Amino acid sequence: MPTILAIETSCDETAVAIVNNREVYSSIVASQIDSHSPYGGVVPEIASRQHLETINICIEKALCQSGLDWAGIDGIAATVAPGLVGALMVGMTAAKTLAILHHKPFIGVHHLEGHIYASYLAEEALKPPFLCLLVSGGHTSLIGVKDCGDYEMLGSTLDDAAGEAFDKVARLLSLSYPGGPVIDRISQQGNPKRFPLPPGKVGGYDYSFSGLKTAVSRLVEKLRSFGELPTADLAASFQETVARALTKKTIACALDRGFSTIAIGGGVAANSCLRQHLQTAALAHNLQVYFPPLKLCTDNAAMIGCAAADHFARGHVSPLSLGVSSRLPITEVMSLYAGIS
Ligand code: KG4
Ligand code: ZN
Repeated sequence: MPTILAIETSCDETAVAIVNNREVYSSIVASQIDSHSPYGGVVPEIASRQHLETINICIEKALCQSGLDWAGIDGIAATVAPGLVGALMVGMTAAKTLAILHHKPFIGVHHLEGHIYASYLAEEALKPPFLCLLVSGGHTSLIGVKDCGDYEMLGSTLDDAAGEAFDKVARLLSLSYPGGPVIDRISQQGNPKRFPLPPGKVGGYDYSFSGLKTAVSRLVEKLRSFGELPTADLAASFQETVARALTKKTIACALDRGFSTIAIGGGVAANSCLRQHLQTAALAHNLQVYFPPLKLCTDNAAMIGCAAADHFARGHVSPLSLGVSSRLPITEVMSLYAGIS
């Protein structure tokens, strides 16, 4: 199996990892949260500039931690889509430069495919077909995983991503960014049944969180006029509504489509309420559900390296003319590769 040096810079983490198949030799993640939190969200220009300042240090650290030199690396990978264009450009350009300098093949990786591969890193036994629920700051997707590069998009959000909803509701409640972990923590002291909220009425396996966000906003406005906000009860009621909605559609999709295994990924997969609901529902329906550890759920380069290693082993490499894309559907992931003969 090939050893890959992988770079991830699609959003606000500068990450570099060295991976051999499902074994992680090193994984460096430099988070930019402190730079973006005063703005309540990711500022694209700040993200690109900081990736540029940090990327070389992360590459050096990853190599040093792995104990390898360039001779031990078979290919260089980078996330090329989807994500912030300027941020993606930094990682991709670094990867292409290293590929040219050290005469290695370049492998472009789809960020969501990377999140799917995080589950392979966490679970040796996991094999397709399975259903992946991907819930992050930028995505809420139900993906049917058939094989490497072969995916079916079964459901997605029509407006805000789940993590985005957590971040926006946290702002409404005057909590810090990123909102998910704070809401999760504060909810432990709250009553999730105090405020019944609308889960979002959308057909099929799609989601919508904007109605829920508006409902919380109206409630907050009303409650403020009565005095101090019952923040913990509001946070718990919101979290419970999101967790129930995600669980309901994920389980329905798995049962309808005949998947016996569910893997979950993305930052929101860390949510304790979602984990509890999914675990209970999966048990009740005799389904297997895998939750990777938090460091593999949130953005990292190990998952990108794992996906790249699988593609590379199948002869999939990318041309150096490949560009970045802010929105490439996962069903078009094979457009990133030109086979080697
Ligand atoms: O996967 P990720 O690190 O980055 C993206 O690719 O977007 O996800 C970040 C998102 C943020 O919106 C954050 O609020 C959310 O994941 N998040 C959580 C929790 N931890 C992080 N949401 C709910 N509960 C958590 N415990
Ligand atoms: Zn991500």
